[in-house]
Amino acid sequence: MTTTTTAGTTALTNIASLVTNDPSLGDGTPIGLIQDAAVVIDGDRVVWVGESSKAPATDNAVDAGGRAVIPGFVDSHSHLVFAGDRTQEFNARMSGRAYSAGGIRTTVAATRAATDAELSANVARYLAEALRQGTTTQETKSGYGLTVEDEARALRIAREHTDEVTYLGAHIVPPDHADDPAAYVALVTGEMLDACAPYARWIDVFCEKGAFDGDQARAILTAGAAKGLHPRVHANQLSYGPGVQLAVELDAASADHCTHLTDADVDALAHGATVATLLPGAEFSTRAAWPDARRLLDAGATVALSTDCNPGSSFTSSMPFCIALAVRDMGMTPDEAVWSATAGGAAALRRQDIGRLTPGARADLALLDAPSHVHLAYRPGVPLVTAVWRAGERVH
Ligand code: NIG
Ligand code: FE
Repeated sequence: MTTTTTAGTTALTNIASLVTNDPSLGDGTPIGLIQDAAVVIDGDRVVWVGESSKAPATDNAVDAGGRAVIPGFVDSHSHLVFAGDRTQEFNARMSGRAYSAGGIRTTVAATRAATDAELSANVARYLAEALRQGTTTQETKSGYGLTVEDEARALRIAREHTDEVTYLGAHIVPPDHADDPAAYVALVTGEMLDACAPYARWIDVFCEKGAFDGDQARAILTAGAAKGLHPRVHANQLSYGPGVQLAVELDAASADHCTHLTDADVDALAHGATVATLLPGAEFSTRAAWPDARRLLDAGATVALSTDCNPGSSFTSSMPFCIALAVRDMGMTPDEAVWSATAGGAAALRRQDIGRLTPGARADLALLDAPSHVHLAYRPGVPLVTAVWRAGERVH
């Protein structure tokens, strides 16, 4: 990856429309849209945003060419530490076979057999792919190791690439513990947690029939919290269940998937501090019903959009693709979807410094080859991200 650092202050000028995600700016909507805008960067921070005509003098200037600028995407949910792929499984699904979490075992076997270098190269490859599509913050998880050594290795490798690292030893009960799930939960909350906690910020559990039930999930998340890992939950993906309400009760940063929600689940998300993270790549790739973003938004829940990038249920690293799906099929407006893919992701990671372009925020920006952020949904499948800055450095 080539990066370009510029000394002194730099103004990005001639921006046709700028998404700030600060409702006190511009059009006063949640995305705080400013027309004919400029952004001034100093070091790794944004120091000024506003109308071009009012921009302060700077040491350097970059002409945005009358195009749109948005905050870099915050992809708060992915599974990038894996080896192999599941092309055959995808092919079978597209011929009518249903998705099952059992496919995770295929990737566990491939991941255990891979070298550190292979896993690290894979993570780097998908991070670079995501960056080219505007992602400047990427959360990623373990969950395809499922032994003490393989989970700790996955997290150590993930941590070489990103600070937003999640321990998902509780992805499924691996075949070697199929006869004794309780022993596996004891491992996940004991020796495996001790080995993994130093590398992770978060703990996650797949709370689902065929994975971990509500009681197991509670035990796992509580044990993680006692070691300083904050909870997030794979909740209500394949069926109704206790995941969402457990997430809210434990003050998880995010309940992810939220595909099958009762009114009580929606109510809990609307009144709690837990973000509802929707992962439309998973419904796309498993031919499942879409999560109802409109219902969550209308109830007052905070919604994030993420890729869930993994070789089984959602093999996309593209936040623009997720935005297009959310607008077309989940009842979101383009403004809402772009907010959810930036500020929403930041909220799901409990981060104040990213997901918005206001003075003091980290200078993470994506320049679109389009006059407006709306084109991300209006022109699906078109690679509109033409330049990316992360922490003030041009990285694409
Ligand atoms: O988020 N739901 C559980 N885990 C992943 C799928 C993993 C896989 O199929 O390999 C998900 O969709
Ligand atoms: Fe996931």
